[in-house]
Amino acid sequence: MPGCYQQSIDYVIKEIKELQSLGINNVILFGIPDKKDDLGSSAYSENGIIQNAVKAIKDAVPSMIVITDVCLCEYTSHGHCGIVEDKDVNNDKTLSLLSNQALSHVRAGADIIAPSDMMDGRISIIREALENEGFINTPIMSYAVKYASAFYGPFREAAESAPKFGDRKTYQMDPANRREAMREVILDLEEGADIVMVKPALSYLDIISDIKDNSFVPVAAYNVSGEYSLVKAASKMGWIDEQKVMLEILTSIKRAGADIIITYFAKDVARILHS
Ligand code: PBG
Ligand code: ZN
Repeated sequence: MPGCYQQSIDYVIKEIKELQSLGINNVILFGIPDKKDDLGSSAYSENGIIQNAVKAIKDAVPSMIVITDVCLCEYTSHGHCGIVEDKDVNNDKTLSLLSNQALSHVRAGADIIAPSDMMDGRISIIREALENEGFINTPIMSYAVKYASAFYGPFREAAESAPKFGDRKTYQMDPANRREAMREVILDLEEGADIVMVKPALSYLDIISDIKDNSFVPVAAYNVSGEYSLVKAASKMGWIDEQKVMLEILTSIKRAGADIIITYFAKDVARILHS
């Protein structure tokens, strides 16, 4: 992905300082481990890449709000977001691994955790695990409404997390289904989510708007890798005015009702807004 890199921890610290100078005070981390295995063990190891990165960032720039993505796909050898049995993800057996992962992030100092795995029941399991350890104030930003989308392609290549067989349709949502979104939001809120996210953003503005109108928590929208890469590619071809298109897209996401926008354009847009 143009402008996006896999970064070692020393490099991440430089990046964080640059973000701070641009007025960006929140980041979300995705980890790429040295070793992958069937159970994604490095996702919840105390010395995993995310756990170490969080400690280093909070040490170097304590005011930076560090959000961590909670999911197993970057850490499993098969590339699925949970434990695989009989060629399919076993939802319930995956839950305890996710809560271990979330706990390990919060112990390392993560400010907010963001489960993106889409297993049913994960928010309540994670919430309970956090409360049991006394982490009663850690917000959970749930990827409540995450569609099985082709727009994740560039991310999966960058994060080396594409599933080795099958697809994610047994746990991610059907893009044709509008009303299921509110059902997922209601469940996650009942389980203890503090912020609900819609992903991707651009092809799902109606969903963002539905959720904004029918819930009373902050709504986040994830402007995903494919949405970003399309703009970068067309711009490289000389077909569009990149800056104007970027601002129009981000404005539309905001207009639809997003309180929080997660975007690979963050640095580009911050440079414009602060100039
Ligand atoms: C998986 C995950 C995905 C993204 C981030 N974490 C989607 C997927 O592979 O199914 C996509 C982000 C993007 O495309 O920018 N838990
Ligand atoms: Zn995943």
